Amino acid sequence: MSTKDALLASVSEPVVSSGNKISVVGIGQVGMACAFSILTQNVSTDLALVDCVAEKLQGELLDLQHGSCFTKNAKIQASTDYSVTSGSRLCIVTAGARQREGESRLNLVQRNTDILKFIIPQLVEHSPNTILLIVSNPVDILTYVAWKISGLPKHRVFGSGTNLDSARFRFLMSQRLGVAPTSCHGWIIGEHGDSSVAVWSGINIAGVNLRKINPAIGTEDDPEEWSKVHRQVIDSAYEIIKLKGYTSWAIGLSVAALASSIISNSRKIHAVSVSVKGRHGIEDDVYLSLPAALGEDGISDIVNQSLTDEELERLHKSARIMQEVQENLQF
Ligand code: NAI
Ligand code: 2OP
Repeated sequence: MSTKDALLASVSEPVVSSGNKISVVGIGQVGMACAFSILTQNVSTDLALVDCVAEKLQGELLDLQHGSCFTKNAKIQASTDYSVTSGSRLCIVTAGARQREGESRLNLVQRNTDILKFIIPQLVEHSPNTILLIVSNPVDILTYVAWKISGLPKHRVFGSGTNLDSARFRFLMSQRLGVAPTSCHGWIIGEHGDSSVAVWSGINIAGVNLRKINPAIGTEDDPEEWSKVHRQVIDSAYEIIKLKGYTSWAIGLSVAALASSIISNSRKIHAVSVSVKGRHGIEDDVYLSLPAALGEDGISDIVNQSLTDEELERLHKSARIMQEVQENLQF
């Protein structure tokens, strides 16, 4: 009799399926920050990692598994074979090239589209009921590509979009006002990138609209130059990439928050990249960020924000940029 059999009297077979399985494809800086945040924030106890580099996968697997005493004893698997993702409720895609210093996200589009062509069909084959969360850049266009390739309904494919930009904005707001970022309410919508739109008309603390206090907020006439806060948000990635080569921790935490809303069916509202055709007068079949409620079946609702003419014009500009890039895309 083995030591185990002598020690333990089996009462029933252990449950194999957790019901909260999350897969992360691409285990670079971003993928591992997502995986680490998901584990340490107890979003899931069932994690599968996929990458095309087997040795790196094995190294990351062992390193995470050795932390099991400090998490909830999560089941962690890793493989280059997509069967490891089977039965995922959520698949997060972070694989692909990242920007070099000074390079725009849009420069990555064809390289990362080609990578998605390989990844997405395999994820859907092994988890036909999954929700896809795209993080790889340019995230808005790749979310459109993933939706097209996957054949999944629109509510089950979305991008991390400006959830990160909104978090950066709220942090910078908090620095100016001296209150917690979670109490600073401001939304960045549109493209995750250079043409993102700050919704100055809605920025508030405890329901007090800052535009009522400072009517010029966000405009060129503002003596306090709040528009610099949005400029800083746009410049954030460029600055961090120049300083450390990549961005990772904030996107990892932001993705874990999105995953948590899905897994716990919270219907919390996040700025995420969704299909915007027919919304705010946009006719192009493109994906951009709008505030949306997330639950167990993906996007359940999109908030109809009251935007000013200027905000609408900027959002339409984001849509035109996406459409122009998509027209030249081969997939
Ligand atoms: P990285 O170079 O550290 O990692 C990329 C990983 O993808 C590598 O492990 C590589 O082996 C893997 N990979 C490449 N081709 C693959 C394939 N065909 N199948 C499976 N795995 C594959 O890059 P990093 O810094 O992790 O960035 C990843 C992506 O995330 C980039 O596109 C970057 O621009 C994007 N990103 C997006 C953010 C957002 O807010 N949406 C924030 C930060 C980064
Ligand atoms: C970021 O904004 C590079 O999209 C990435 O951190």
